[in-house]
Amino acid sequence: MRIDVVTIFPEYLAPLRAALLGKAIEREKISVGVHDLRDWTHDVHRAVDDSPYGGGPGMVMKPDVWGEALDEVCASPEAPPRLIVPTPAGRPFTQRTAVRWSAEPWLVFACGRYEGIDQRVVDEAAERMPVEEVSIGDYVLVGGEVAALTMVEAVARLLPGVLGNPASAEQDSFSDGLLEGPSYTRPEVWRDRPVPDVLRSGNHAAIARWRRDQALERTYHRRPDLLDRLPAQDLNAKDRAR
Ligand code: ADE
Repeated sequence: MRIDVVTIFPEYLAPLRAALLGKAIEREKISVGVHDLRDWTHDVHRAVDDSPYGGGPGMVMKPDVWGEALDEVCASPEAPPRLIVPTPAGRPFTQRTAVRWSAEPWLVFACGRYEGIDQRVVDEAAERMPVEEVSIGDYVLVGGEVAALTMVEAVARLLPGVLGNPASAEQDSFSDGLLEGPSYTRPEVWRDRPVPDVLRSGNHAAIARWRRDQALERTYHRRPDLLDRLPAQDLNAKDRAR
């Protein structure tokens, strides 16, 4: 997968080359390009924003600069990329989004400051390529950079050969619509706290039932909204008895 990020803070994207993502780049599972938006300015001040039409606080990012940047970064003789615009005003980014994007060959992230990019940039790009405005949660960041990092990490770990153990992606919280329950490792007793007996019983059916119960209970307490959204057939008779 190819990933490009356009930003006025290229140094903010340095973590892309660390840890799991860095390894994925080394192993050529993903290739990453980070581009400084100011490279497409033509004035001495290298201005990327201007005051909003209609008044109000903050600044809006200029369409001419963004237009040229995206023309160049998204140019391809083959299919265009999927353009992703992080914004608190976007549709929610979820694990489902990450799974869908993990099948794409090329993602481009356009990171604007939170007051936003002139809407015509997004509207015009959408005539040439798939575009999604997405939010990573109901809070406001300074700009789209940290949101892009979050989304790149969520997508990259789903790619074949990126995670050490592919089964861990399948057992994620959300992959079955529930939060994952607690995990334990050695020692068997730590600070007078034993590991739950069932996990040492060797009874695989009992362990699976216990894990399912823990996931249901945790989801009920922490994210009841997820239970409400679970398709009816995903809860079996034994689940309902709990
Ligand atoms: N930019 C600022 N806040 C954001 C958010 N919550 N999600 C995505 N991009 C953002």
